[in-house]
Amino acid sequence: MTDDGNDTDPVAGDVAPAVDAESVIEANGLSYAYPDGTTAVERVDLSVYRGDRIALLGPNGAGKSTLLQLLGGLIEPATGTVRYFGETTDADSVRDRLSVLTQDPADYLFNPTVREDLAYGPIQQEVTQAVVDRRIETVANRLGLADLLSKPPFRLSGGEQRRAALASALTVEPEVLLLDEPLSNVDAANRDAILELLAELSANGVTLVTSTPDTELLPHLADRVLLLDAGGSVVAAGSTREILTDPSLLTECNLRPPQVVRLFEDDDPVPLTVAEARSRLGD
Ligand SMILES: Nc1ncnc2c1ncn2[C@@H]1O[C@H](COP(=O)(O)OP(=O)(O)OP(=O)(O)O)[C@@H](O)[C@H]1O
Ligand SMILES: [Mg+2]
Repeated sequence: MTDDGNDTDPVAGDVAPAVDAESVIEANGLSYAYPDGTTAVERVDLSVYRGDRIALLGPNGAGKSTLLQLLGGLIEPATGTVRYFGETTDADSVRDRLSVLTQDPADYLFNPTVREDLAYGPIQQEVTQAVVDRRIETVANRLGLADLLSKPPFRLSGGEQRRAALASALTVEPEVLLLDEPLSNVDAANRDAILELLAELSANGVTLVTSTPDTELLPHLADRVLLLDAGGSVVAAGSTREILTDPSLLTECNLRPPQVVRLFEDDDPVPLTVAEARSRLGD
């Protein structure tokens, strides 16, 4: 697990998993093709250890969402296996330890009110009503949803729906979070609130696997990166720093280094975030 000592602006380090780290997800040789013949994921291997912050980075259509659903056991691979906690390949048996946020908020928002959507997961866990209420209040306050709890979810704006869907994944208090672009459609203040919350969860040992096409956000989300190309194959795996400071690799995948990396490309080490650049400049 990383500990950069900064909860509000976590920045990726060059962190390799500890040798004796506990396996959380072990994926081997995962491939998936949709019924129309589109190959979305091609022979992907991925080892996720407790406390990891891993990103699935790639352009549109790279297979990030498909891979995340495979890792979460929402769809079955054509080839390959996914093993959870070193124990089982049965995703259903680990459902309350592992939350998946897919790209479509509608997957999570189907009850008459937002409050009931947020209660759905904890109620399945058979915790007391007081615990359900406490979790809802805590998450709703952190994600700016407190005033929206009695609304029907389909009456929320796009960004509000996104936050409500994330909130419903968090109220089960999982050990592992698989998040498909959790910050898309979210305004700057709410994005900061989500990043701060994810940093706290990570500091408390929660494992995070996050998909994104956004290299600007990547340093705030992950220490290790699996870079996928448009064909659904892994083109590189490495630390966030290694991946973000390799412009030709990113260009090959229709991506660009963050602006601050391009601005300070001759620095050693290159800052990955504005906060890093500012502290370098003595600001
Ligand atoms: N239901 C489907 N049927 C057929 N092809 C699909 C289906 N869903 C996705 N695909 C295709 O599978 C590939 C991978 O899609 P996926 O949604 O996993 O990509 P992604 O990396 O998440 O993209 P984005 O950044 O746009 O979210 C794409 O070529 C896409 O067109
Ligand atoms: Mg996607």
